[in-house]
Order: sequence, then C-alpha cells, then structure tokens
Amino acid sequence: MTLFDQTTTPAATAPALHEVPKRDPRDRGGARQPLLIVRDLHKHFPIKGGLLNTTVATVKAVDGVSFAVGKGETLGVVGESGCGKSTLARLLMHLIPPDRGELIFDGDPVGQRQGLSLRDLRRNMQMVFQDSSSSLNPRMPIEDSVAYGPRVHGAPRHTARATARDLLDKVGLPAEMFAHRYPHELSGGQKQRVNIARALALEPRMLILDEAVSALDKSVEAQVLNLLRHLRTRLSLTYLFISHDLHVVQYISDRVLVMYLGEVVEIGPVDRIYSAARHPYTQALLASQLSTDPAERLTEAPIAGDPPNPIDPPSGCRFHTRCPFAEAVCTAQAPRLSAAEGPEAHGVACHMHDPGSGHSRHGDPPVTPLNAAPAPMPAKRAQGAAR
Ligand SMILES: Nc1ncnc2c1ncn2[C@@H]1O[C@H](COP(=O)(O)OP(=O)(O)O)[C@@H](O)[C@H]1O
Ligand code: SF4
Ligand SMILES: [Mg+2]
Repeated sequence: MTLFDQTTTPAATAPALHEVPKRDPRDRGGARQPLLIVRDLHKHFPIKGGLLNTTVATVKAVDGVSFAVGKGETLGVVGESGCGKSTLARLLMHLIPPDRGELIFDGDPVGQRQGLSLRDLRRNMQMVFQDSSSSLNPRMPIEDSVAYGPRVHGAPRHTARATARDLLDKVGLPAEMFAHRYPHELSGGQKQRVNIARALALEPRMLILDEAVSALDKSVEAQVLNLLRHLRTRLSLTYLFISHDLHVVQYISDRVLVMYLGEVVEIGPVDRIYSAARHPYTQALLASQLSTDPAERLTEAPIAGDPPNPIDPPSGCRFHTRCPFAEAVCTAQAPRLSAAEGPEAHGVACHMHDPGSGHSRHGDPPVTPLNAAPAPMPAKRAQGAAR
C-alpha cells in the first residue's frame, strides 16, 4: 500500500485542514529532528568576459545561508527579486552544486559517502516551478507526464499509470475526465495542479514551491493554496514555500525566512514576523504591502532604491546603503544572525539587536522605518487620503 492509497478525491470531499497526519513510516529521527538542515550554503556564479573569456566578476547569489525546516511545517521564503531565492531552491534540490555548505535530510548528510545519495534526495524532495506550461511536455497526455517519474524510477507501466490517475484525482482533476488531455487543453490553474501531482508521484516528503502560485489568477491562486494545505496534512508533507507575495506567504507559512542579497536577515514564526518584525528590511518589506484601505495608501516607497549589485555587495551589513538606522559599525562589520533554531526562535541579523555591537539604538523600543525619528527613509503613509 502506498501513502496515496489512503485518501479520496479532494474534488469530491472538502479538505479538512485539521486532520491529524498519519505517522510517516519513513520518519527516522522522530518529530523533533528537523527534516532538512541547511548549513552555511554558498553559491557564487562566475561572470565570464573579455577576449579570453575569463572570470571578470562573481555574483554572490547565496552567501552563507543556514536554517532548518521541521517535519510537517511550511517555511516561507521572502525577499526582493534577485536576492537568491531560486538559487537557494536549486541548491537544495542539487540541480546546481553548492560551492560550500552542507545539507542534512532527516539526519543523513546529502551527497556524502555515508549519507543520502542525490537520487534518494530527489525521491524525498521535489520541486514545483512558477511556469506551469513550460514544466509540462506539450506532446504528452497529462497522465503520462505524472507517470513519468515513477516509470524512470523503475515502476511497472500499470503501477505508474495507477499512481498518476490516483494523484490526478487527489489534486482535483478527476482522472476519467482529465487523464488523456494535453497541456494545451488545460487552464493555468489546472496545469499547476498537474505539476503538483507530478511532484508528488515519487511520494516525496518535502516539496519546494518556487513562486508556484505567482502566475495564477487570484481566485485560482486561493484554490491551489488550499489544495497545498490539504495535501500537506493528508500526505504528511513539509514545504519550503518561496514567494515575493507577502500575503500568500503569511497565509500558508508556519515560519518565515527573509533573504537580502544572498543572506538570511531574519527568521521566525509567521505571527512574530508579521506583527513584530525586528530587521529594518523586513519592516520595510511589510510596510510596502498593498492595503485595500485608501487611508493606508502609500505615497512613497517604504524602502529606497534598488537592491545593490550582488556582484559587489556593500561591506558590513549589506542593507546599510538603504537602512535609516545605519551607523559606522554597520559598514564596518557584518551582523551575525542571532540564534534561530527551533520552531519558536526569532533570529535577526542586525547590530541594533546585538548587545555587544556598539550600535547606539540597542535597547531602544522597537523602531520601524515608518516611526523612526529623525527618519531619512522617505516613507510615509497618506494622511487622510481621499476616500
Ligand atoms: N546561472 C547564473 N549565472 C549567473 N548569475 C546568476 C545565475 N542564476 C542566478 N544568477 C544571479 O543570482 C542572483 C540571484 O538570483 P535568483 O536566485 O534567481 O533570485 P530570486 O529568485 O530571489 O529572484 C541574481 O543576481 C541573478 O542574476
Ligand atoms: S545592521 Fe545596521 S544597517 Fe544593518 S539593518 Fe541593522 S541597523 Fe540597519
Ligand atoms: Mg526566483
């Protein structure tokens, strides 16, 4: 019996988000052992140029990233475009090799002689990308697309087909109606459901969702988000959910990791991040969320300028060129991420929150770019904006 044998079609039965997941027989270290531990991950891309095509610069896309993901949780990853989110996702899947760093999956180091092979990692961890169309073979009926992974991993044709049909049912595409359709006969939301089914075909324990709902209409996006929540509970899945949309991340995540220029600047439980963010960059990101209240309309951006070039990131704290609280220590010394292990820990990389850093604002009441005084940041909410 497979994990998928125990469930019925979500299209037919409303998802029960509170269902208690069955204990996964593949669980090795118990609930307290994180499913994934990432230690000091680095990826620098060389930029070639000149007559001899030599390396003329290096993009520091991921630069010393460490975190852990607990079993059954959803870790949201946010940050501006170009901060390294997709590179991080590809590194976790080993689609590109890291320059340095370590991955530990349920206690097993990945890619080492005594640990988990890359083949086993990819059985356990699958990825869903943003572009639902280009992820599917236009010449293959969707049943075959979903059955492809199990076939490659040695499943007999009829078993792979049965798995595919079962999964199509589970993602809300009844197999009798959809199995023989081609991608061009599906809407964007339906194609993304197929991609989710395909990612689940090898019964992974973890999904990496890189902007997986970003291209969908809002109503379809909500349906796919609810499907993901439903599947997470039903199939005991763990998610790394990458998105630039802070509303979506708040809705689906248990914890949130904030990236800036290849580094983690803050990580913590979703409620703490959204109600009491401590890093000025996180505060500015949250302040820039659009509101439906006209009185909350922003007249100026809460964060100034574009992110600096990752080829030559600023010294010290990489955010100091845009931070209203930057002081000499910020340009001289890179802040360290405070302890961020465990589901309740709230870690931040900012000298204001480090008692030994010498930053003059340490110990002040929490400040944000919107209440700082004096505030060089040009951010203001509209006062009494026309209703
Ligand atoms: N293969 C590559 N070669 C060179 N630079 C790359 C490559 N892939 C990504 N980058 C650069 O790495 C940085 C991070 O990119 P990415 O991870 O795609 O960011 P995000 O997903 O947060 O938008 C960007 O500056 C991007 O241009
Ligand atoms: S370390 Fe300094 S520059 Fe960086 S976020 Fe904190 S106050 Fe701002
Ligand atoms: Mg990306």
